Amino acid sequence: MSALKDKVLAALRTVQDPDLKRDLVTLNMIKSVEVDEAAGTVAVEVELTTPACPLKKKIEDDCRAAIAKVPGINKIDITMSARVTTAGQPEGKTALPGVKNVVAIGSGKGGVGKSTTATNIAVALKELGARVALLDLDIYGPNVPGMMGVTGRPKVINKRIIPIEANGVQTMSMGFLVSEDQPLVWRGPMLHGVMKQLIFDVAWGDVDYLVIDLPPGTGDVQLSLSQMVHVNGSVIVTTPQNVALQDVRKGLAMFQKVEIPVIGIVENMSYHLCPACGHRDEIFDHGGGERVAAELGLNFFGAVPLNSEIRRSMDIGRPVAGVRGSEFYKIYRAVAERVAQEVAIRNAAGGSVPIATIKAD
Ligand SMILES: Nc1ncnc2c1ncn2[C@@H]1O[C@H](COP(=O)(O)OP(=O)(O)OP(=O)(O)O)[C@@H](O)[C@H]1O
Ligand SMILES: [Mg+2]
Repeated sequence: MSALKDKVLAALRTVQDPDLKRDLVTLNMIKSVEVDEAAGTVAVEVELTTPACPLKKKIEDDCRAAIAKVPGINKIDITMSARVTTAGQPEGKTALPGVKNVVAIGSGKGGVGKSTTATNIAVALKELGARVALLDLDIYGPNVPGMMGVTGRPKVINKRIIPIEANGVQTMSMGFLVSEDQPLVWRGPMLHGVMKQLIFDVAWGDVDYLVIDLPPGTGDVQLSLSQMVHVNGSVIVTTPQNVALQDVRKGLAMFQKVEIPVIGIVENMSYHLCPACGHRDEIFDHGGGERVAAELGLNFFGAVPLNSEIRRSMDIGRPVAGVRGSEFYKIYRAVAERVAQEVAIRNAAGGSVPIATIKAD
């Protein structure tokens, strides 16, 4: 190895991933270093643990600053790439092929914006460059078809259901399989069977993040899900007023009971910005999500305002997280980055077997 390359690598050993708290060389994040000693040029490829890394710019700047200190370098070329890490494979579980990470969106209460948050997080992760799937597990009241603008039925090939791509996301919902006016009345065991079909009989393909929209409440679906699939973590959606925060505690207790870790909280309908005058009205109080997150020792992933553009975008099946000109694009992008960041931190801490898992029957 050339002496200059050695020096560049030594410089990169001084750069830490701020989340993982180890240097980039030790973390195996330096994919290549090419130097031209005569010309004094260096090209480095840094591989992040997710394309949705909120620290991408900082890591790139830190690498550039560290390499700039090496004598004899006068041109630095840094390429940032990503390969999404995955959850470990707990003992006694088998694989959900191709799916690296599973993130569920839930709450302790109905109507707080779980489906809105789930669809927008999925679309934002896709916008950030990840391969994403979205599974609607609200079996009795599926909203994902409308929110993602899907009207058709999925194809079945070799007895496997092909998810429908919408807004760049592989999407699956009970709403694709039954007609809208057909009431769904099932008892527990049937529900379990339907869930199995929606999870295991679907050809998901290679997916970095499978986002799951959970139904309201603290029922069977969450328990069955935790028994079937290894879920990396859940995100709790809340509105900021006190009564909803009591429901966060309820939701947290429920996820603890079914052994799905809660990785953070999103505050939805956090404030209202008047489109006419720009006045900010804190309809449901504000900051409650952040307070309760701090109190419960959970991450706070961000606050999403109450806004008619968000509601309209859901009604027409075009989530704002995919509309680059929208002022809410950035808000959901930041939330999605925080989710991906937390998943990556947990993956680094918990093992590195390259597939997400389900319990063997
Ligand atoms: N930030 C927001 N701004 C404006 N409207 C919103 C916002 N979040 C959600 N809504 C609207 O509120 C309604 C309820 O949202 P959503 O269906 O996402 O809630 P949910 O928690 O999934 O409900 P359920 O418990 O019934 O599954 C929808 O009409 C949605 O468009
Ligand atoms: Mg919903």
